[in-house]
Amino acid sequence: MEVGRLAVGGCLFCITVNLLLQGRGDTFTINCSGFDQHGVDPAAFKAVFDRKAFRPVINYSIPTHVNISFTLSAILEVDAQLQLLTSFLWLNLMWDNPFISWNLEECFGINKLTMSVENLWLPDIFIIESMDVDRAPAGLTAHVSNEGRIKYNRPLRVTSICNLDIFYFPFDQQNCTLTFTSFLYTVDSMVVGTDKEVWEITDMSRDIIQTQGEWELLGINKTTPRLLVGSSVYDQITFYVAIRRRPKLYVINLLVPSGFLVAIDALSFYLPAENENRAPFKITLLLGYNVFLLMMNDLLPASGTPLISVYFALCLSLMVLSLLETIFITYLLHLVTTRPPPMPQWLHSLFLHCTSPMKCCPTAPQKGNKGLGLTPAHLPGLKEPVELVQKGPGPQEAELNGFPGSKKGQQEDEAQKQHLVSLWVQFSHMMDTLLFRLYLLFLATFIITVTVLWNT
Ligand SMILES: *[C@@H]1O[C@H](CO)[C@@H](O)[C@H](O)[C@H]1NC(C)=O
Ligand SMILES: *[C@@H]1O[C@H](CO)[C@@H](O)[C@H](O)[C@H]1NC(C)=O
Ligand SMILES: *[C@@H]1O[C@H](CO)[C@@H](O)[C@H](O)[C@H]1NC(C)=O
Ligand SMILES: *[C@@H]1O[C@H](CO)[C@@H](O)[C@H](O)[C@H]1NC(C)=O
Repeated sequence: MEVGRLAVGGCLFCITVNLLLQGRGDTFTINCSGFDQHGVDPAAFKAVFDRKAFRPVINYSIPTHVNISFTLSAILEVDAQLQLLTSFLWLNLMWDNPFISWNLEECFGINKLTMSVENLWLPDIFIIESMDVDRAPAGLTAHVSNEGRIKYNRPLRVTSICNLDIFYFPFDQQNCTLTFTSFLYTVDSMVVGTDKEVWEITDMSRDIIQTQGEWELLGINKTTPRLLVGSSVYDQITFYVAIRRRPKLYVINLLVPSGFLVAIDALSFYLPAENENRAPFKITLLLGYNVFLLMMNDLLPASGTPLISVYFALCLSLMVLSLLETIFITYLLHLVTTRPPPMPQWLHSLFLHCTSPMKCCPTAPQKGNKGLGLTPAHLPGLKEPVELVQKGPGPQEAELNGFPGSKKGQQEDEAQKQHLVSLWVQFSHMMDTLLFRLYLLFLATFIITVTVLWNT
């Protein structure tokens, strides 16, 4: 009995091995007789289709080589706040299936077939940076060659995380990575590579790219680092996609208007300081600039502090400073024309030195208005102080003069005071000019710094 059972068991084992060997015996050559008369016989591929659940290798110690390349067909969106790049790729995968092969001569020279990918094993390649579920369209097909090489192309919308640096906005470049790797297979089972050079991928993408939007493709680079997770090593291929923003929109909408407003602010220093319109004019400009900033807020990246925000803040502070300067000069003029304080000796000598023929200090822009001999009476907008001056010296000053009521003393006094006022007025104008020069210097330094920073 025991012997009989053993014999039956041995026979069953023999049959199983035989069946298995039959499957392998013909090295999986597909019988293609009748391909030209009845089309492809599904039965011929049945053995292949039945195996689609497993990685197609004859010896499981041999890893499957998958060649990956892609064509970037659109850069749809770059979200600086969420740090996301949305792009559209045509992904090309290529691998060998050793169970598929047919004889070219027997098969009437058919060297390529397309078949639905639902019937084939597919490598589980995914993009590490992708932050979106993969929504591949259904019903895709793949090319299968007579040597068992499978070419699978599919469209892929990738929303990938990308470390965006918006400091140089709008003149910024970004370098985003797309890392392709197998989700499950370690390096023992799957090796990824690429059959195209990066320049081929770049050129192809440049030709194909559909959007003439905000971003321009600069170049694509690749590296092949290995990914170590715990004790498993995964093979991966990393593509660096370098893109550059087209700054035209921002230059026209942000930099030019802002530059105009600052230029007008600088030019408003040429409005005479005595003119009461200067301060209101600057306030209007400041208001206009604020409205501009409010409106342009949408165009700026929502996160981080780009250089352009610093630029706007500095423009605003320059305008505020120029307004403060105007207030100061107006106050000074008002003070010196109503109650001129005695001029300190050092200031007087400095002043004389400066107004001497060898000028060391700059002259005011509206020089014509204020020679030394000009009295405040000739200055517009100063009626009140002039009246005050013409009223003659107050009782205090009369007492000081020691000749109360003396006509000559009064006149001398008045002339002296007018001289003092005109000195002070001229001093105010010089202050105005000096501060204006400082303002211009600051503005120039600031513009040069920002430009240099943007150019690097
Ligand atoms: C292919 O199949 C046909 C019938 O379907 C058979 O006659 C032929 O011998 C087969 N060829 C090979 C090489 O197995
Ligand atoms: C499978 O491949 C490994 C390494 O290439 C080799 O050592 C082994 O003998 C192969 N097994 C068979 C059954 O061919
Ligand atoms: C992958 O690319 C390499 C290099 O171009 C090539 O030698 C190899 O045959 C390719 N393999 C597949 C499966 O396409
Ligand atoms: C992108 O970054 C990678 C790694 O930091 C670097 O190797 C590559 O050259 C960069 N690409 C460009 C175009 O700057």
